[in-house]
Amino acid sequence: MRIRILGSGAGGGFPQWNCNCANCRAVRAGESGFLPRTQSSLAASANGHDWVLLNASPDLRRQIEQNPELAPSGNDPVRASPIKAVVVTNGDVDHVTGLLTLREAQPFTVYGSARVLEVLAQNRIFNVLSPSCVERRELPLDTPIALKGAGADLGLSVEAFPVLGKIALWLEDALKANFGSVEGDTLGLKITESESGKAFFYIPGCAGVDAALASRLRGAALVFFDGTLWRENEMIEQGLLGKTGTRMGHINMSGPDGSIAAFAPLGVARKIYVHINNSNPALNAFSKERREAEAAGWAVGEDAMEVLL
Ligand code: MLT
Ligand code: MN
Ligand code: ZN
Repeated sequence: MRIRILGSGAGGGFPQWNCNCANCRAVRAGESGFLPRTQSSLAASANGHDWVLLNASPDLRRQIEQNPELAPSGNDPVRASPIKAVVVTNGDVDHVTGLLTLREAQPFTVYGSARVLEVLAQNRIFNVLSPSCVERRELPLDTPIALKGAGADLGLSVEAFPVLGKIALWLEDALKANFGSVEGDTLGLKITESESGKAFFYIPGCAGVDAALASRLRGAALVFFDGTLWRENEMIEQGLLGKTGTRMGHINMSGPDGSIAAFAPLGVARKIYVHINNSNPALNAFSKERREAEAAGWAVGEDAMEVLL
């Protein structure tokens, strides 16, 4: 199975269009140690021809150009795409708006929770994905299903499971508990190659590693995990946004409550951070925070990084 990081950044990307923080300044200036990052998405393929996208980011058009495997080629018909399916983990702007890039009457299947499919149905702009060619399928929880699209069986299954988190920012209801979030508003995915049984996890948004998630991940071969923040308060400290990680529904990397500590006893063979916010000091390849993450066995994801499983 081939797994490609299309975008390793969080919402806004790196640099973010309106951000003049130290990291964004450094990456704009091309300083060594800083790589630009597009927004949150992965792609996976069992046969190297048919691909599933895990989330569809606003940068998808550029990501397809950066990853030629995702573009038509060779003897393909005049209209063709290797992208046969898209699985979305929540309703974040960084995870659904790339669906609009996939208009132009190309068949594929969108998989999402009932609540995310409802969001797509209520926002009529998504009708550019005509129901006559783009199928929408509900992702059941805790039940693996075979991934299919445009007449192809991808040779992969997806199991969606709820993780701690929050409803998408733009869907928050200030009057309701946890802003109107219900279980399943933030999903993790387990993708399994049918033939080999090899599997990886993709969890780009997660507010905490509870006992259920820890037992699910114990001994896993490969996990892509929420790397939004280094510290709970870093956005406030940098004057970027008056919100903590907890308020945003994202666990931080460092400290006793962070993901580095939570994963330490789990024996995960390969751990890669994705959905990394531009405020995160671990984006700097020469920072002490990067050294600390790497010393704990983590890799900081980069765009176009490929992992073979
Ligand atoms: C998040 O991951 O918290 C969201 O992408 C925030 C946003 O939509 O800006
Ligand atoms: Mn996000
Ligand atoms: Zn910034």
